[in-house]
Amino acid sequence: MNAHSASGHEHGHGHGHGHGHHGTDIDWETMATELENKADLQLPVSRETAARLRKLLGAGSTGSGTAVRRILDIGSGPGVMSCVFAETFADAEVVAVDGTPALLDRALARAERLGLGGRVVVRHAELPEGLTGDDGHGEGGLGTADLVWSSKAVHHLGDQQGTLDALAGVLRPGGVLAVAEGGVPMRFLPRDIGIGAPGIQARFDAAQESWFTAMRSELPGSIAVIEDWPAMLGRAGLTGVGSFTSFLDLPAPLDDAARAFLYAHLTRVRETVSESLDAEDRRTLDVLLDPEDAAGILRRPDAFLLFGTTVSTGVRPRR
Ligand SMILES: C[S@@+](CC[C@H](N)C(=O)[O-])C[C@H]1O[C@@H](n2cnc3c(N)ncnc32)[C@H](O)[C@@H]1O
Repeated sequence: MNAHSASGHEHGHGHGHGHGHHGTDIDWETMATELENKADLQLPVSRETAARLRKLLGAGSTGSGTAVRRILDIGSGPGVMSCVFAETFADAEVVAVDGTPALLDRALARAERLGLGGRVVVRHAELPEGLTGDDGHGEGGLGTADLVWSSKAVHHLGDQQGTLDALAGVLRPGGVLAVAEGGVPMRFLPRDIGIGAPGIQARFDAAQESWFTAMRSELPGSIAVIEDWPAMLGRAGLTGVGSFTSFLDLPAPLDDAARAFLYAHLTRVRETVSESLDAEDRRTLDVLLDPEDAAGILRRPDAFLLFGTTVSTGVRPRR
C-alpha cells in the first residue's frame, strides 16, 4: 500500500487535500485498493481489537455494561473496520465518516456484500470542521456515539489534541474513544537481502519519518504535541486511559495478496521518498519492484510481513 513510516503512520502522494508544497499532499482516492487490501490482511487482528473494545464497553453483559447502539469510524477509508464493528456489535449502527467519497462508496459496497447493508451508513465530512457541524456541506455534526474509533486519521489533522477533544465530546457517558496511532513499524525483509547494503528497511523508515514530519508541519493549523496518545486522551477528559498493541505476523513464504500489498507499499516508497535514498538504495528498490526478478518482492522466498498496531483507549465518565 502506501508508504508506511517508522512510527506506523500511513501516507501516500498526490493532490487530494492540497495542503502540501513538497510532495506531502495525499490523493486518498488513488489509495483505495491499497487501503482495502491492507485492511483485509489485517482482518484477524481487527476482529481481536473489536472483541477487546466490546469487553471494555462491557457490551453484551448484563448489568453495568454500555449498550452499544451507535459507533463512529472517523477517517474510515474503505470501511473495513466499520464492517468488523457491525459484525461484532449486532445491535449497533456504524457510521463511516470520511472526506473521500470514493472510499465511502467502497465502504457501502463492502457492507452490502457482507449482508451488513442496513447497519453501516456513511457520512461525507471534511475534518476537523465536520466534527462540529461546520463542515461546509451543511450536513451538521456527527451526533453522539457509544464507541468512537479512529485509525490512522488523526495524524492527518493539524491539531491532534483538538481533534481528540472533539471526538471525546461526542461520546455518551460510559462510551469509549479508541484511536489507532503509532505502533511498531512494518518489517518485511531480512537485514541482508543479498543486494546492496544491508539494513535497507531502516533507511526506508528514516526517509519516511522525514517525509511524515514534513507532511505534518504543512497541515493547516499544524500544532506540535508530544504524541503520548493515552496522555492526550486523559487531557480530553477521559478516564481509565491505556493502550494495547496487536501484531500481524505473516511468516515467509507470503501469499499473493500479501506480496501485492508489499509491491504497492514499495511503489509508494519510490514515489514519495526515493529522492532521500542514495543511488545504491534506489537501485535495490528497483530490483525489489521488478516483477520478473527472482529477488523482487513478488517472487523472493524470504519476504514476510510483521507489524504492530497500537490502540489507545479512554472512557467518558458517567458522572
Ligand atoms: C491512512 S487512511 C486510514 C483509513 C482507515 N481508517 C485505516 O486505518 O485503514 C486515512 C483516512 O483519513 C481520511 N482523511 C484524511 N484527512 C481527512 C480530512 N481532513 N477529513 C476527512 N477525512 C480525512 C482519508 O480520506 C483516509 O480515508
